[in-house]
Amino acid sequence: MKKPLTIAIDGYASSGKSTLAKDLAAKLGYIFIDSGAMYRAIALFAMEQDLVHEGQPKTTELIERLSTIDLAFQRHPETNSLTLTLNGEDISQKIRSKAVSALVSSIALIAEVRTKLVELQRAIGEKGGVVMDGRDIGTVVFPKAEIKIFVTANLSVRASRRQKELVSKELSTGLEEVQQNLEHRDLIDTTRENSPLKQAEGALLLDTTNHTRESQLEAVMKFIENHSTC
Ligand code: CDP
Repeated sequence: MKKPLTIAIDGYASSGKSTLAKDLAAKLGYIFIDSGAMYRAIALFAMEQDLVHEGQPKTTELIERLSTIDLAFQRHPETNSLTLTLNGEDISQKIRSKAVSALVSSIALIAEVRTKLVELQRAIGEKGGVVMDGRDIGTVVFPKAEIKIFVTANLSVRASRRQKELVSKELSTGLEEVQQNLEHRDLIDTTRENSPLKQAEGALLLDTTNHTRESQLEAVMKFIENHSTC
């Protein structure tokens, strides 16, 4: 039997990373880990614990409280999907709120937060057979991943996809507001000093603007098959 691969997917906000990662994991029988959900969980914790002041995290206090945060992925017995829990509570819905999206990239700037989450991500993925998506997976978390993909798409297409997703989750938001949040996060994520979002060496560049869910999966499966026969 072939050794299970580690597949690292990075890219811009709402570029289709998680959809692709989920589809790949289902096709290959791997686990899917949404690393962004973990950063969102820390943002939610900061909001709920009054560790936010004027839209920014109270960094020193948050760092002091990091050791009290227990994050875990639990497998749902019926759907077989993974849900994220924060100190035992299922927070999968709460982390998609507008307020969390507005705060999360400032939380992701904090070195101590990144260190804690990267450690957890490596522990989850150490045996391979994992598809993980985020901003620094191919560059920092799994620099030796066999398969790396960098996902991009036109900004207005990304905004309208995200808006549709939010409406379907009854978290309706205006298109312009969604687009501004994506732009704001992309700017912080690409310009930060610590683990900025960038294309990893050897990563397949995938522009999903004109792809369907099926065609993007097909393109990436071809890339993986070519890699496996090399
Ligand atoms: O799904 P979406 O593209 O909106 O973003 P996400 O994957 O939920 O990530 C939310 C935010 O977490 C990003 O905008 C980054 O600021 C941060 N993040 C990060 O810094 N590193 C990661 N590996 C994943 C997310």
